[in-house]
Amino acid sequence: MAPLPKAELHLHIEGTLEPELAFALAARNRVQLPWADTEELRKAYLFSDLQSFLDLYYGLMTVLRTADDFAELADAYLARAAAQGVRHAEIFFDPQAHTGRGIAFGTVVEGLARALDHSEERHGISTRLIMCFLRDLPAESARETLEAAKPYLNRITGVGLDSAEVGHPPSKFAEVYEAAAALGLRKVAHAGEEGPPAYIREALDVLGVERIDHGLRAVEDPELVARLVRDRVPLTLCPLSNVRLRAIDLLEDHPLRSMLEAGLLVTVNSDDPAYFGGYVGDTFHAVHEALGLAPEQLRELARNSFLASFLDDDEERRARYLAEVEAYDFGSSDSVDAVDSARP
Ligand code: HPA
Ligand code: ZN
Repeated sequence: MAPLPKAELHLHIEGTLEPELAFALAARNRVQLPWADTEELRKAYLFSDLQSFLDLYYGLMTVLRTADDFAELADAYLARAAAQGVRHAEIFFDPQAHTGRGIAFGTVVEGLARALDHSEERHGISTRLIMCFLRDLPAESARETLEAAKPYLNRITGVGLDSAEVGHPPSKFAEVYEAAAALGLRKVAHAGEEGPPAYIREALDVLGVERIDHGLRAVEDPELVARLVRDRVPLTLCPLSNVRLRAIDLLEDHPLRSMLEAGLLVTVNSDDPAYFGGYVGDTFHAVHEALGLAPEQLRELARNSFLASFLDDDEERRARYLAEVEAYDFGSSDSVDAVDSARP
């Protein structure tokens, strides 16, 4: 059965680096990795918090060196995403994680763009690129990164904010977000993943973001929830990530269902699928099982993903995708097969 059509709005392309590709690129680029093989590497995927993941994430991405590497990475993601029903993907990348080790900004964007340019014809997925600033680096470095992006603005839809959250509030980046908006870029930011609800308010009030990435800890602040419902602010939740990074003990404890029922415009995403145990179809499947979501709630999540997407410049396409969601037939039972997501 065809998978439910959906958009993915919270996906770090570097977080799609599977162990097999990492070792192939390491050999090609003569990068020495500290793990003997893919099996040993996979054993290191036991995280205690966001930072313990980030240490491995930044370490492994050192195998990415050429435009071809970035193109191969993105094409592999798009192939997997297509098999799981993704029709539109808004893809994060972390330029400073590459420029900081001597890879030119242009190498990264040109490589990613090469894969994205073929995405519709090869995979049936429309795409956007969002460059994220690393919030644990100085604001000055983010400003330099925005400067480096200027020749590539035709390829970049927006800016985001990621990496270690606690101690790095959104307000640190007020100036660079203002400059990004002046260049016509859309604005999102990770907030409330490990950081407090106050960071979500800051991202909205100080940075003027249009979506909150994660926003999980909004549930601790009923007034904030009311505001997010009223203003229809999308929250790009990543349930498998929250479990793997220990924000939540068990998927069964995830507030996704109550957030949906509270009227929040939540979406379900994979974050760093090579590390967190599944791509976005796998994630739909997992929350369906763990939280007992009804088919109509899965449809609502899919609908939300297109409503929250930056398809404002192509409303005809958005309408087409939304029509696909409404026409989707879950079949005669509530079977999880309806959202099955067999890997390619
Ligand atoms: N949180 C913050 N920064 C990140 C993440 C994440 O889950 N993945 C990649 N960078
Ligand atoms: Zn993320």
